[in-house]
Amino acid sequence: MGNNLTVVVLAAGGGTRMRSKTMKVLHPIAGRTMIGHVLAAARAMEPGRIVAVVGHQREQVSEHIRSIEPDAVLAVQEEQLGTGHAVRMAVEAAGASEGTVLVAYGDTPLLTGDSLRWFVAEHEASQGAVSILSGIVADPFGYGRVLRNDEGDVEAIVEEKDASPEQREVREINSGILAFDAEFLVSALPRIGNDNAKGEFYLTDAIAIAREDGLTVGAYPIDDVMQTEGVNDRVQLARMGAEMNRRIVEGWMRGGVTVMDPATTWIDADVVLAPDVTILPGTQLLGATVVAEDAVVGPDSTLKDCEIGAGARVVRTHGELAVIGGGANVGPYSYLRPGTNLGAGGKIGGFVETKNAVIGDGAKVPHLSYVGDAEIGEGTNIGAGTIFANYDGVEKHRTKIGRHARTASNNTFVAPVEIGDGAGTGAGTVVRRDVPPGALAVSSGPQRNLEGWTLRKRPGTAQAQAAAEALSEGPGGRPDGEQGVAES
Ligand code: UD1
Ligand code: CA
Repeated sequence: MGNNLTVVVLAAGGGTRMRSKTMKVLHPIAGRTMIGHVLAAARAMEPGRIVAVVGHQREQVSEHIRSIEPDAVLAVQEEQLGTGHAVRMAVEAAGASEGTVLVAYGDTPLLTGDSLRWFVAEHEASQGAVSILSGIVADPFGYGRVLRNDEGDVEAIVEEKDASPEQREVREINSGILAFDAEFLVSALPRIGNDNAKGEFYLTDAIAIAREDGLTVGAYPIDDVMQTEGVNDRVQLARMGAEMNRRIVEGWMRGGVTVMDPATTWIDADVVLAPDVTILPGTQLLGATVVAEDAVVGPDSTLKDCEIGAGARVVRTHGELAVIGGGANVGPYSYLRPGTNLGAGGKIGGFVETKNAVIGDGAKVPHLSYVGDAEIGEGTNIGAGTIFANYDGVEKHRTKIGRHARTASNNTFVAPVEIGDGAGTGAGTVVRRDVPPGALAVSSGPQRNLEGWTLRKRPGTAQAQAAAEALSEGPGGRPDGEQGVAES
């Protein structure tokens, strides 16, 4: 909204009801911290500057704010003497004396930039000294009440603890979000005292001061009151988290995404989904995950910071920092660790774990394998039960497998090792040396059968009994002699 808008975000309070070593505003909700959501709403207005007031655990909070809003001015409030005092610290740190100052709190995660923009536009159009973003609620307990005169003009805000029984009946509450004419704010702040029930400097006293000065004050009720609701404990955190998720999921459904079971689908705020994506029950899409059109994710999958290509299928999978190509198939029961990159039309199948693994277009790791620190060329098939032994006990090494190779079941690739294009391996091979293109590697020796071993070494066991019975039937005792004991 331009250069002469300053947004002040209050985040100095302790948030003791969270009972946490983590500051309240740093608790996550839908993949961002609470203050991260508020800063995103602030940023959406493109203000001239953002000022954050920090106090409790200020190192932790400041570092976090700087990481997401490097240009923010940080104002320190040593002691939490009240919202009026906090805003005074902000104004002193930023020197805001022109334009509009919008005050918000760091613990209202549902707040949107659209609502703030609407409110600031109302305030600026009114040319008033102060405007209140208010709300009409069924249970106003704990909030400051907006007091209007018989004409309906706003006269003051009275805090719960200072209100008369009659004033407590008022259901129009102060959301806490206030917009000020900067000049008025600068003149009002030193006039706010702390002679009240809490002994705090109440920012809300600025309303009565404006009226004494004969200035205009307005209150604009927001329909969606939950947007201004603060989180004070973990019960509220979960409730607001569920509500935010409901809003996000609904937004994507309206945008053309099929969500079979919204109640068990969790989508973080920064996830991006294309139209005609389908999400099946029990799925969490977290962080900066991006899913392209016609992909189907779920059921029962958790993907964090993953990129899923168009038309891919991801079933019962846990993935982080993985890229899945278009039309590829993953799961069920796959574990994709960071650095997994599966090409178009490829496959990572059941009980397969991958890490730092670039798997080419159309390449497949279908069953029961560990693929770590590997490169697998296009069209290659990895046999069931293959282990990429990437760790020699001291260092990690890479395995490189070429294009259109065919490796058999139960192989171990002892890295560093390279298998050429079009090469193959036999079942049970332990590959310790490079395999040239087109070669077949076999490492297991010829099979030896130690005749009668069980009867000699395990006498009296069920195993020995079964062997004895089979041997007494003789070579002709079975429909197919080859299945019995060898004759030679
Ligand atoms: C405040 C409002 C009340 C409003 C309510 C909405 C005042 C006096 N009262 O009451 O009218 O209905 O919010 O939730 O403004 N903070 C600081 N420094 C301080 C004090 C507070 O940074 O010295 C921050 C807190 O971290 C918090 C916010 O300001 O994020 C609100 O403070 P809080 O003490 O919770 O105010 P309420 O009593 O809820
Ligand atoms: Ca509060």
